[in-house]
Amino acid sequence: MTLSSRDRALIWHPFTQEQTAELPIVITKGQGSYLYDEHNNAYLDLISSWWVNLHGHANIAIANAIHQQALKLEHVIFAGFTHEPAVELCERLKALLPPHLARFFFSDNGSTAVEVAMKMAYQYWQNKGDFKRNKFVSFVGGYHGDTFGAMNVGRRSGFHDQFQELFFESVTISYPNTWDGDAEVEQKEHESLMQLQQLLVQEHQQIAAFIAEPLVQGAGGMRMCRPYYLKQVVSLLREYNILIIFDEVMTGFGRTGANFAFEIVGCVPDFLCLSKGLTGGFLPLALTITSNHIYEAFLSNDFNTAFAHGHSYTANPLGCAAAKASLDLLLTTKTQSAIQTINSCHLKYLPDLMQHCKFLKNSRVRGTIAAFELDTNYAYSIKDLKEQFLAKRLLLRPLESTIYLLPPYSITADELNDAYLKIASIITKHF
Ligand SMILES: Cc1ncc(COP(=O)(O)O)c(C=O)c1O
Repeated sequence: MTLSSRDRALIWHPFTQEQTAELPIVITKGQGSYLYDEHNNAYLDLISSWWVNLHGHANIAIANAIHQQALKLEHVIFAGFTHEPAVELCERLKALLPPHLARFFFSDNGSTAVEVAMKMAYQYWQNKGDFKRNKFVSFVGGYHGDTFGAMNVGRRSGFHDQFQELFFESVTISYPNTWDGDAEVEQKEHESLMQLQQLLVQEHQQIAAFIAEPLVQGAGGMRMCRPYYLKQVVSLLREYNILIIFDEVMTGFGRTGANFAFEIVGCVPDFLCLSKGLTGGFLPLALTITSNHIYEAFLSNDFNTAFAHGHSYTANPLGCAAAKASLDLLLTTKTQSAIQTINSCHLKYLPDLMQHCKFLKNSRVRGTIAAFELDTNYAYSIKDLKEQFLAKRLLLRPLESTIYLLPPYSITADELNDAYLKIASIITKHF
């Protein structure tokens, strides 16, 4: 019995229809931008393994940092105790962030980073004696994770329809998804801003917070919006005293070209959610970062105003050691110029691809992320396409009709060029 069929007999995989899915590919090792299967086939990881990997697989500096930390302290309860890796990590992140973002709350993954932000925002108003604020506002097509609170604000992403009945009050506004040469972008932005304005006029006193993935909606299909539009959204929300949560679980740590997407937007949220790239893709860890102003609303002599939330592995020292090492790598000139190189490659090769394959549309690039869509007039099967990408040893995972590249920063210009050429040949042949 092969390892993949033994797996099938035991393991229930995420986002998988187990009845119809192919047997999973057995990966035995990773090195740099490649993953290797049991037959030693090397797959170029163009999606950073669900957007977590920053510096390539099996990065030696991060591996060593985890090893050294494991020899000292693997874990300790984080209520009533603390440790150096957690404090140092937060100090280093704080130095990168605006002074406003000064308080760090740990959890384990992107969904929990969002749950924490939502719960904090809700409880902030409760602690202030404002008991009416029980609604969250989000964008159509946003995705914030699969736990209940996160699902609730990602309810129009298409992933969570079965759970509608269990959701609490929340409102979505339209998202001005845009791309190169989009003639209607201003109209879409205007409509979205009008919707928000109307909502705020009518319901601002019931709104606890607004949540968004700044600049790029990941799971919704790498849908991009313009920074100035988002800045206007934030200004409007500020006028009505609405708390702002930026979910940078995917966009954080250089993906959009800056360390964090909010820097490009030019405004600072009340809550910043980080995970995925936080540890460079080595260990599950998350942070919800907020202001002293929010933090102070939880201080009193009564435990009921405290934030009573935590996870067994909160601030795991190994995760913190990995995150510190990953952050050091991110800030090197080498990585910063690799981020620029990836962006330049997208800007060079994507237009060629679009020109070469007439049935592609809506190309867009933001930092290290490039995306385009297959025209719906052409019959295609995403399953076939995925298989053909794998046959050419490219790890790509289209989101419905959207194909995107979100590679680790270890990828070279030649590897990206080669990937674009292979994608062109597959798509051309496919139709
Ligand atoms: C923007 C965003 N927020 C939250 C999440 C949830 O993260 P996790 O899968 O680690 O729970 C994701 C996952 O893709 C995401 O892209």
